[in-house]
Amino acid sequence: MKFTLPRGTRDILYPEIILWQQIEDTARRIFSVYNYREVRTPIFEETELFERSMGESSDVVQKQMLNLASQRVDADGKPLLSGFSLRPEGTAAVVRSYIQNNLYKKERISKFFYIGPMFRGERPQKGRLRQFHQIGVEVIGANTASPYLDAEVIALSVGLLKSFGLKMFKLKINTLGSSSDKNKFSGILRSLLEPKISLLCDDCQQRFDRNVFRVLDCKNKGCREVVNSLDIDYGYLSEGSIRYYEEVKTILKDLGIEFEESMSLVRGLDYYTHIVFEIASDSLGSQDALGAGGRYNNLVYELGGPQVDAVGFALGIERILLAGSYEENTITSHIDCFIISMQSVGLRQAFILLNELRSNGICCDLGYIGGSIKSQMRMANKAGARFVIIFGEEEVRNNEITVKDMNDSSQERISLSKVLQYLKEKL
Ligand code: HAM
Repeated sequence: MKFTLPRGTRDILYPEIILWQQIEDTARRIFSVYNYREVRTPIFEETELFERSMGESSDVVQKQMLNLASQRVDADGKPLLSGFSLRPEGTAAVVRSYIQNNLYKKERISKFFYIGPMFRGERPQKGRLRQFHQIGVEVIGANTASPYLDAEVIALSVGLLKSFGLKMFKLKINTLGSSSDKNKFSGILRSLLEPKISLLCDDCQQRFDRNVFRVLDCKNKGCREVVNSLDIDYGYLSEGSIRYYEEVKTILKDLGIEFEESMSLVRGLDYYTHIVFEIASDSLGSQDALGAGGRYNNLVYELGGPQVDAVGFALGIERILLAGSYEENTITSHIDCFIISMQSVGLRQAFILLNELRSNGICCDLGYIGGSIKSQMRMANKAGARFVIIFGEEEVRNNEITVKDMNDSSQERISLSKVLQYLKEKL
């Protein structure tokens, strides 16, 4: 029987894995510069947590949740894990953890980051997977609704993408206003759309009742035409919401961060209030969002915690890699040293030397499977070894090795007892 991986998932192998590690390492370095701390939550949580946070009417909850339930039953005869789902995103779980661990009693402001897999039952296509990976941040705390923090997370998301080597991307921002502004806006939108409802796609006809904002960012051509014909402005926003939005934009300009304002940017998840943003790349086709985020000042309260403010974003690693169009053959990895041994004679000493070098922090490997010097040299080259150590018959007899510097192809014979010192000096 042959097993294949589930649709919409990927194996990440060498050399691509090197890129993933570089992205993750860079992100961790930048997060520590910004003073964000890592949080790791389970990859499954109660389904209701996601329903309550993202909204029952959101596309993710309606169409993409991956629910768990086992054939096995617990002591009450209920299927194990019934009522749990794989996490489709990170925000809800971080908020759950913030509340459950009483962090609001322990610190004024909590700045989290996470890197990990998320799961959505989508129709797979380029840039859209069922298991994908996000790098995200959430900033949560009482009275932290400061435009400077909105600007900080936006600057952080842009800074991360730049440090991954991406240049061509566009930041779009918008404000949804407070919850009451949002309510007003949905009323206005419904009254504007009602006469044109028959021109909307099937999905948007349902969204009209469920989540009317989503009509604004539908990609269907007919819906786009309807939306473009609507006469909408920011009249529904309170003075405070407008002032907040203006402040965020001024700070972004101070920082030299370019952005475009887009009234049709509404985001698909219910929890957002005030600032929302999205970063898109032209090189990605229909799944062009590299990342997105925004403020969600009511979610902690709605999930049973105190009334505290919050803002965050998540970037999709797969899309970052697609947009960067990294060439696999430019990815290189290196080791310090590769040991070649002629199987019959030197393997035992070679293995002892290998372990001595490794325990002194020298990154090395051994041609375990033997073969000719030539074939082992090829293995050393593939591993990107800087030095090659050869344990030939004569070397073993004299307690020596031949060491070859792959940079200039020079080689010399040295005593086995001096190898560690020699490499330490050269590396
Ligand atoms: P989101 O827009 O649903 O927001 O996802 C953020 C990013 O995850 C997307 O821009 C995209 O790069 C990536 N992504 C989403 N779905 C897929 C998929 N099926 N395949 C590949 N990549 C995907 C959130 O998840 C919010 N939790 C962001 C946030 C954090 N807002 C506040 N805090």
